Amino acid sequence: ATATTTDIFRPALHYSAGSTWLNDPNGLIHHDGVYHLYYQNNPLDSVWGNLSWGHATSADLLTWTERPVAISCDEKEDIFSGSIVFDRHNTSGFGQDGTAPLVAIYTSAFKAASGLEGIQAQSLAYSLDGGYTWTKHTGNPVLNRNSAEFRDPKVIRYSGPSGDYWVMVAVEAKDFQVVLYKSHDLKSWEYLSTFGPANATGGVWECPDLFPLPLDGDPNNVQWVLIVNLNPGGPNLGSAGQYFVGDFDGTTFSSATTVTEGHQDSERLREYRWLDWGRDYYAAVSFADVPDNRKLTIAWMNNWEYANSIPTSPWRSPMSLVRELTLQTVDGEAHLIQQPAGDWAALDAPVANFSLPETAISQGTTILDGAAGTVQRIDVSWTPGTAEEFGVVVRGEGGQGTRIGVRPAEGTLVVDRRESGQTDFHETFASIDTAPIRLMDGHYKLTLFVDRCSVEVFAQGGQVTMTELIFPSPTSKDVSVYALGGSATINSLHISQYA
Ligand code: FRU
Repeated sequence: ATATTTDIFRPALHYSAGSTWLNDPNGLIHHDGVYHLYYQNNPLDSVWGNLSWGHATSADLLTWTERPVAISCDEKEDIFSGSIVFDRHNTSGFGQDGTAPLVAIYTSAFKAASGLEGIQAQSLAYSLDGGYTWTKHTGNPVLNRNSAEFRDPKVIRYSGPSGDYWVMVAVEAKDFQVVLYKSHDLKSWEYLSTFGPANATGGVWECPDLFPLPLDGDPNNVQWVLIVNLNPGGPNLGSAGQYFVGDFDGTTFSSATTVTEGHQDSERLREYRWLDWGRDYYAAVSFADVPDNRKLTIAWMNNWEYANSIPTSPWRSPMSLVRELTLQTVDGEAHLIQQPAGDWAALDAPVANFSLPETAISQGTTILDGAAGTVQRIDVSWTPGTAEEFGVVVRGEGGQGTRIGVRPAEGTLVVDRRESGQTDFHETFASIDTAPIRLMDGHYKLTLFVDRCSVEVFAQGGQVTMTELIFPSPTSKDVSVYALGGSATINSLHISQYA
């Protein structure tokens, strides 16, 4: 029974650990031509626990190879989330014989045997073999605030008018604060400033990230982006990631998109900036040292609401696709735009392709003959007509299917997974979720990545994204198009079948 379950939901386009639990991506870095994905991992089970850093590598951001566990928990600590830097000038002194170290900055979640039970503090480990084996620093922890909720350090190299040094962003999770520190050697840290509470503050703040991006590709107009994941309190339900666009002067992050008065009002939630509006896109952070300063992210494709009970076995939780982020002006304001990363053309050619020319869709649902599949990329562009809603149903069969639609009058993008397959493993899973969407050049353009247990929607060229888990039966393969309450026009539709 276990083997069958494994096979039917095992993603084809996404990373999953062979037979264990995973959550947050950690220590993302490009080094010596290899992308490293470390992650929160229970090496012994398929539920959260025994937190260690699992490891996978990729050359192309699309196919991943699992490696041995990189940093293990022990009797004194669990290894919570964190980041990795390449210490090219050996500021830490961990380098040996001219080899510069990779240094991991992680949260020690201390247990009784450490004498610091209940404390979360920041610790170091280093690697001299390009990230495959790691040694814990004997002076850990290196930054301790005697807090039970101080975690998820993301360290970057800052270089600006105020100098050249390491900057750490981490959270005081229950205070909805990002705390910033600086260091010259990664071992001793000096407090800089605190950001928050602001904007969405449901639950706890976790897994922050801070990085510069040129606005509209202009190197003379660099702005700073602060990512703050939070759980629960997302725009639909549970875990999600928000971001702020602003400035970082080497000490303080400030942002014009920050609301501090009345920011907890639930109506305001939809005004905030979300990395993704779906229910299964959490703990997104970016890769360090990507060539050409490209900004790449990956997220955990799950939600703490039901994470431990999704019906996969013995592995549990996939990662999202890797995305490339750019900062672009939309209606006079700087927004993150997200595109799937990786060279899709270099993958094994799709096993089949399906296309529709311009087609008027009248009221009703039509199965597309010859378009069925379980792993696909769908590119579709619509011109709205009289229909209240139009869209695509994927992974369909009989009454089963996941509906991805646009309601132009309401200005919403809808993902309805109420009939997506298995939903009864948790009471909050069957859901209909929405995101704001607006007409662009007369069209609604959606790119959908459908896999064995997920669908990721990139709408309007990456202005809006929605990521959701689904657990359809393997025979649910139909693709349909539909219009409700009137008609609409498909300008073009193309499907690449990967399986
Ligand atoms: C986020 C998180 C982090 C923590 C880790 C523990 O999902 O709660 O804050 O470091 O998971 O696994």
